Amino acid sequence: MIFKPVMREAFIPLPVTFISTISRDGIRNIAPYSCIMPVLRPLDLICLASAWKRDTLVNIRETREFVVNMVGVSFSDKVIPTAKFTSPEVDEFELAGLDEKPSEMIRAPGIAGSYAWMECELFREYIESDYVLVMGKVLRLEVADEALTSEGDFNIHKARPLMMTGSKKGIHFCTVTDIGAFEPFGAMFPDGKDPLAEKYTS
Ligand SMILES: Cc1cc2nc3c(=O)[nH]c(=O)nc-3n(C[C@H](O)[C@H](O)[C@H](O)COP(=O)(O)O)c2cc1C
Repeated sequence: MIFKPVMREAFIPLPVTFISTISRDGIRNIAPYSCIMPVLRPLDLICLASAWKRDTLVNIRETREFVVNMVGVSFSDKVIPTAKFTSPEVDEFELAGLDEKPSEMIRAPGIAGSYAWMECELFREYIESDYVLVMGKVLRLEVADEALTSEGDFNIHKARPLMMTGSKKGIHFCTVTDIGAFEPFGAMFPDGKDPLAEKYTS
């Protein structure tokens, strides 16, 4: 079948992240954002696409900071309450019945119950007429112990990341599954060594 180009997100499963920000006046805001990606390995940049009419975007531009909260499937019922239009004066933590997890390096709080928190500062924005690409620098990345294996790797079975695909009718929520296949990064290179490996050692 041939589909309209606007159907691309029906075939690219996307993460459902929650972006938390705080306004210049101290009002807390939350919005789900799925158009988000890390910018290349091994950089510490993350890029999200935002429509102009978003309190999230106003807050990021005014305060230059935001938290990318990674959540599990139990947050599926928090998507619509935080995605519905609400006036900028409304505290969306209270509206959605979510508690905050104080951040360490920025003022904007994270959301308690997420499995990971990326405290970001605005790095650059790419302005288009209909949208803005917001590039954030991840200053601090914290992951809940419960989402990790004993070796400190991500355990998708415990975290059950909330994801989505979009159909003509709406949003279909899903999560990821492990197919038991693994390749080291070095496998991409002729000498079998990952040239970026040292960037990942702490
Ligand atoms: C699953 C989901 C993903 C979304 N992803 C984005 C996105 O990537 N970019 C965007 O601008 N809006 C996105 N939205 C819409 C915003 O979440 C929505 O407009 C929200 O009300 C914005 O809140 P704010 O004005 O408090 O920032 C998404 C909505 C849903 C339900």
